[in-house]
Amino acid sequence: MSFDLSVFSNKNIILAVTGGIAAYKSAILVRRLKDYGFNVRVVMTHGAQAFITPLTFQALSGNPVHTELLDPEAEAGMGHIELARWADLVLVAPASCDTIAKFAAGLADDLLSTLYLATKAPVWVAPAMNQQMWAAKPTQRNLNTLVEDGVHVIMPEAGSQACGDVGLGRMPEPEDLAEQVKNYFHQAQRAIAEKFGLLAGKRVVITAGPTREAIDPVRYISNHSTGKMGFAIAAACYSAGAKVTLLAGPVSLDTPNGVRRINVSSAIKMLDESMHQLEEGCDVFIATAAVADYRVAEVAEHKIKKAGDELNVSLVKNPDIVATIAQQSKRPFMVGFAAETRNVEEYAAGKLIAKKLDMIACNDVSRADIGFASDQNAMTVFFAEQYQMEKRDLEKASKQEIAQQLVEAIHDALNHKIEPV
Ligand SMILES: Cc1cc2nc3c(=O)[nH]c(=O)nc-3n(C[C@H](O)[C@H](O)[C@H](O)COP(=O)(O)O)c2cc1C
Repeated sequence: MSFDLSVFSNKNIILAVTGGIAAYKSAILVRRLKDYGFNVRVVMTHGAQAFITPLTFQALSGNPVHTELLDPEAEAGMGHIELARWADLVLVAPASCDTIAKFAAGLADDLLSTLYLATKAPVWVAPAMNQQMWAAKPTQRNLNTLVEDGVHVIMPEAGSQACGDVGLGRMPEPEDLAEQVKNYFHQAQRAIAEKFGLLAGKRVVITAGPTREAIDPVRYISNHSTGKMGFAIAAACYSAGAKVTLLAGPVSLDTPNGVRRINVSSAIKMLDESMHQLEEGCDVFIATAAVADYRVAEVAEHKIKKAGDELNVSLVKNPDIVATIAQQSKRPFMVGFAAETRNVEEYAAGKLIAKKLDMIACNDVSRADIGFASDQNAMTVFFAEQYQMEKRDLEKASKQEIAQQLVEAIHDALNHKIEPV
């Protein structure tokens, strides 16, 4: 089974512009699609270039514009077949009578018509033309053929036209078109989520439990983390359709069903394994582990013998796992946790920014009824500014229920990325 839920920042749209007066609106359309986070490549017919320059689209899309079919240089770059495969959606806006006729006839005498035949991606056309040309029998016949061939035709709007006529044939506004594209991917995403789970197809790596920093072969420094929250999240992610790897510090918990568990001990080992997981591919990294901030500078080779009234152990700082992962160029969606005893929300929001996280869940471990060893938890979730999402209070509930709500928050944030800024 192959499907991809990361529909937003990595969906590829080919915007094909043909020779119609509405071509100027397509410049705004590129902007709106980019605002939603789509990757946009523009294909232009020769006709389109009489109305607007490729340079405009190159600057707006941030990608070279594709205009030629029989050009060795263009083919050596991203050729027509590669372009056809790259697309998740081909949107022809404006679609001229001429291009619609070519599609209906199955011609392949320029880049766009060839691309149309070569792509497996859904093709949408937004016809824009004089009202008489719209009503013309050949145009209607060709449009019917396109519908039969599975093309989605976006109805033109009625109104006054550039030529002075009044009637059907205006291209919908770029904002409307961009929203329709966004909604299409949202719906596709929702359908997959309903069928396969909120995190279907995602690879999730979770760190959990404490770390153990050796002093000598028999003693160590550690903390009270039990790993319960991380294990509950691992189970919830697996139930939501994700492939889950759990990097567990020393805890006495059973491995959740379906979850791949890798036991680690020290912070250094946890970081090494996290980096290894990143190389193997990771969409979401959830750092619930209570990683020791410091480790012993020099671990004694043999058991330290009791001697004198004092024993001084020198500590050095451990690497910050979550911040290290967040700095990588191919970083996953980063979820951090903050366990604080005072100014909980303030510290958590600061940590979100300082460590460049996408989301942080914080709880007040000074409360006896929630936190470390408790089976219950209550949290506040913050999202990075770019998501423009309100903070969420997760009311006191079992760690399983909290984990489920966190999965929903991650899913929502992953999808929210395409909301306009
Ligand atoms: C000023 C002007 C405006 C035009 N506007 C449109 C239009 O809005 N819609 C359309 O289908 N054709 C329009 N045409 C005709 C197309 O440009 C022409 O059919 C061309 O061959 C389209 O080529 P293409 O589909 O390869 O881009 C217009 C032509 C001119 C000269």
